[in-house]
Amino acid sequence: MEITLNAPLDMHLHLRDGDMLKLVAPLSSDFAGAVIMPNLVPPATTPAAMSAYSERIASAMGEESFTRYMTLFFTPQSEQQLTQAKATPGFFGYKLYPAGITTNSEGGVANLTEADSTLRMMQEMDIPLLVHGESHGFVMDRETEFLAVYRELAERYPKLRICMEHITTAAALQLLDEFDNLCATVTLQHLIITLDDVAGGALQPHLFCKPIAKRPGDRDALLQAALNAHPRLMFGSDSAPHPRCKKEACGCAAGVFTAPLALPRLAELFARHGALDKLQAFISDNACKLYGLTPVQKQITLHDVPMQVPASYRSYGQQVIPMYAGEQLSWSVKR
Ligand code: DOR
Ligand code: ZN
Repeated sequence: MEITLNAPLDMHLHLRDGDMLKLVAPLSSDFAGAVIMPNLVPPATTPAAMSAYSERIASAMGEESFTRYMTLFFTPQSEQQLTQAKATPGFFGYKLYPAGITTNSEGGVANLTEADSTLRMMQEMDIPLLVHGESHGFVMDRETEFLAVYRELAERYPKLRICMEHITTAAALQLLDEFDNLCATVTLQHLIITLDDVAGGALQPHLFCKPIAKRPGDRDALLQAALNAHPRLMFGSDSAPHPRCKKEACGCAAGVFTAPLALPRLAELFARHGALDKLQAFISDNACKLYGLTPVQKQITLHDVPMQVPASYRSYGQQVIPMYAGEQLSWSVKR
């Protein structure tokens, strides 16, 4: 069995910077492009910083046909700043983090009312808003608590394109169906694992991410929506590499590194559920329609020939452990 995908897109990707960028960027090169997250140290808040980062990605990627859809770290903006951002080549949208909610998000938004005028202007200028939707409440309830904020945003800015990033709950899917101006990304791991896989037995630091994996019912609802190619649901890996020493540590950093195996594992998952015909929509077409993207023509064939996932990826003095480290997947990319 095999499937050829046209222009697979990763609608939520962390590529980091420096040596880690050099290590991980080529591992996403089977994708035609990706939405690149701005939570660097310091975060990418200006078009100049964003463009320079985009150039560093291009040289680390060493692959010409990879489109960088660049995001800026949301802070309140003037009309002039928004105009400048929108005119910057490669600019895709703003990523809003509640202050302190995850890795390098300390400079995020503490109070949404401070964002009001910026969001009004973004709506007028048709600039997408990508949101890390978690409250500061109990860890298992953070996303559902934040749904009230999404609802308020969707109602107050009815023409603003709002993307609920990396959704992890059945409740988020319900909200998605209520508002046409909401869309969502979902990761590979949240289609497969639950909190049990992270902390039900021996603690699995390489499966620890934010938002944390939830209940079986949540995972099952997300999987069904993906397998049915829900038209406003897109694949976004949220592949978030951290050095091995930061993961296998007291105070483990949040993030699952899935970039090198996401396409084979998705093909395996969709094939097992008899839904391979829906993968193209989930991996590219939905995003193209929702955002009006016209990615480069890049075809990737996946087949049911096993892939051995390396125990780790290392170079440039960096080492990162992928999901399924040392295991065999039953699908791989046909080279
Ligand atoms: O697990 C996560 N890792 N969630 C995020 O929101 C950020 C990401 C990262 O940058 O490490
Ligand atoms: Zn992320």
